[in-house]
Amino acid sequence: MSFDLSTRITLNNGTSIPQMGLGVWKSNNTQAKEAVMLGLKHGYEMFDTAKQYGNERGVGEGLVEGLKAVGKTREDIFLTTKIFGGDQGYQETLDAIDGQLERLQTDYVDLLLVHWPVTGKYVDTWRAVEEIYKAGKARAIGVSNFDNERMQNLLDHATIIPAVNQMEYNPLIQERDILAFNQQHGIHLQAWSPLGGGAVLTDPELQKIADKYNKTIAQVVLRWNFQSGIITIPKSVHEERIQQNADIFDFELSAQDMQKLYSMNQEKRSLWYNDFSWEGGSINEAVEEWGD
Ligand code: A2P
Repeated sequence: MSFDLSTRITLNNGTSIPQMGLGVWKSNNTQAKEAVMLGLKHGYEMFDTAKQYGNERGVGEGLVEGLKAVGKTREDIFLTTKIFGGDQGYQETLDAIDGQLERLQTDYVDLLLVHWPVTGKYVDTWRAVEEIYKAGKARAIGVSNFDNERMQNLLDHATIIPAVNQMEYNPLIQERDILAFNQQHGIHLQAWSPLGGGAVLTDPELQKIADKYNKTIAQVVLRWNFQSGIITIPKSVHEERIQQNADIFDFELSAQDMQKLYSMNQEKRSLWYNDFSWEGGSINEAVEEWGD
């Protein structure tokens, strides 16, 4: 069986998602537009943005121009965005979605995530997200950065089980408890920062594995994600890297090498995540930084 960027995983509501996509975190509108166009050029079919990133407009423009350039249509690709921390709450979320769709130049997203479990609001946010789903503005719905306690609370109130939980996931932070709990409920884990924001790319042990397969560390780590059944969205704004990160389908890591990556786990979340207040404060800054 051969795999490529079209290889999909079926989510708990029957929607299918490409297992490998392109992230645009930390990119402004211009960079995000270019990255999306380059992604389309190199065969990516899944794109992940968020209102917090302040680049939905750039992603929308990149999709419109990029799809035309490669002769594909909106239905050929899978688009994710997220409900911003500052927009959480029932009515606020319902009020936010149309502006997001307008910036993305589409009538629907394929996946809508609650970006953070903002304290005191995320259950109401989820109720609104369920309505957005029922209205056809999102083909699947899920969450991001939900630990087990908050996920359990959400499940206690939800009428629709999230399809996805997008978490920081890379060899140094493998979120074993969260992965196990999510799997029990049929919730797929999607990896943000699969390359550890670049942190794993200089590891000498990984370099040895990469040399063995004549691949880069980034390719080894992404292949490990792929073989583990994790949905992954490496971010790059550089064509060579966008292309390189997609070139992971012509080799297979041995069981022993897979194990070596699993054994690197330190459950070490990035600092900013640990510092995050869960109240949504820091979320507001990112949008202001890039403008919208
Ligand atoms: P850039 O966008 O300048 O290419 P993550 O997805 O884990 O957050 O990691 C993304 C970071 O790693 C970004 O800083 C990105 O930089 C960089 N990056 C992405 N792909 C590669 C690659 N193949 N080789 C080296 N660095 C990469």
